[in-house]
Amino acid sequence: MANFAIMGFGTVGSGVAEVLRMNAGPIAEKLGEPLNLKYILDVRDLSATPYADMAVKDFSILENDQDLDVVVESIGGAKVALDFTRRALLAGKHVVTSNKELVASHGKELLAIAKEKNVNYLFEASVGGGIPILRPLFQCLAGNQIEEIAGILNGTTNYILTRMVKGGIPFDEALKEAQAKGYAEQNPAADVEGLDAGRKICILSNLAWGREVLPGQISVQGISGLELKDVAIASGAGYRVKLLGRAMRLADGRQAAYVAPHLVPADCPIAAVDDVFNAIMIRGNAVGDVMFYGRGAGDLPTASAVMGDVIDALQHREKRRNLGWNESAPLASFSELSMRWYLRGGFQVPENCQVLSGGAMLTGVLSARDAKALAEKLDAAALLPVLQ
Ligand code: HSE
Repeated sequence: MANFAIMGFGTVGSGVAEVLRMNAGPIAEKLGEPLNLKYILDVRDLSATPYADMAVKDFSILENDQDLDVVVESIGGAKVALDFTRRALLAGKHVVTSNKELVASHGKELLAIAKEKNVNYLFEASVGGGIPILRPLFQCLAGNQIEEIAGILNGTTNYILTRMVKGGIPFDEALKEAQAKGYAEQNPAADVEGLDAGRKICILSNLAWGREVLPGQISVQGISGLELKDVAIASGAGYRVKLLGRAMRLADGRQAAYVAPHLVPADCPIAAVDDVFNAIMIRGNAVGDVMFYGRGAGDLPTASAVMGDVIDALQHREKRRNLGWNESAPLASFSELSMRWYLRGGFQVPENCQVLSGGAMLTGVLSARDAKALAEKLDAAALLPVLQ
């Protein structure tokens, strides 16, 4: 029998327990042995729940249990979760997590500890919820030079944008709906200001190119400043507004990553991705474009990815997954990146720009620095990049 523990019994942690309850038989078949949920570590009182027998409040019980194989960290944040993850790895436990904040900010260190202790630190659920994306990136696409990644990486903001566009409801109401459905982070600023998507694009970039990109190093713009007017003008012109995380490798070998709301051409597959769904497009120099699509948030989809990692960790007890990334590489700044831009305001549309309705226009290809200067010169009310 293999034993595992869940630390943090919120949306994801309770989803993991539920997936085990639903699928104990098939999971045991894949493992060749039953999977036993031995402990649930949480500050809450679980005595009136079916999980009373396994509830503990003292982390050292997990740390000192020689029969505990895997610890699922679904506490969130980078404080207690960091301390417990370090200690669990140092105690020789495999650790599986959905915690993108921790992986993005401390992944290099935690993966190094895992390597030293010959255990796995796996985090498939940290990007794209239930979508298999990290394993395809570091394993199935390992034969490619990855050229670009572009994705709808946050379910809450995609849900909000979809409800604003299709339901015509205001931002605040759509956010409340997303929170009620359990999609949003406890602090919705992490979603709506793009920080959550920023952490995820950093993790993707780290795995794609093996060099650390920290969330604090990249430009991040969310959707809180987005006006319905721009979403409507974009729709009328054949574009959908989507919050995208993008990472790319430039011709000079430098990497770049950023998050911003984009105008996406309606015929691009990513434009049709609505509600809480996420989609990630990866361009490899051998495979071309591939797209991964599915539920990017929610208890059971995220728990599905966590459970896959628990099984994988147990199947790689002896020879751990070779996963990790190195020191930072030189990064190109957002201001250097070139693309087309959407601008709106009460200005005369300059020549060589495509006129849209409502005083808006699309520019030709410009660097972000030049687009910003043009927007300032024209006193534009909106400036958004266009996905090409
Ligand atoms: N708040 C996140 C989202 C949860 O909405 O995508 C999944 O990471």
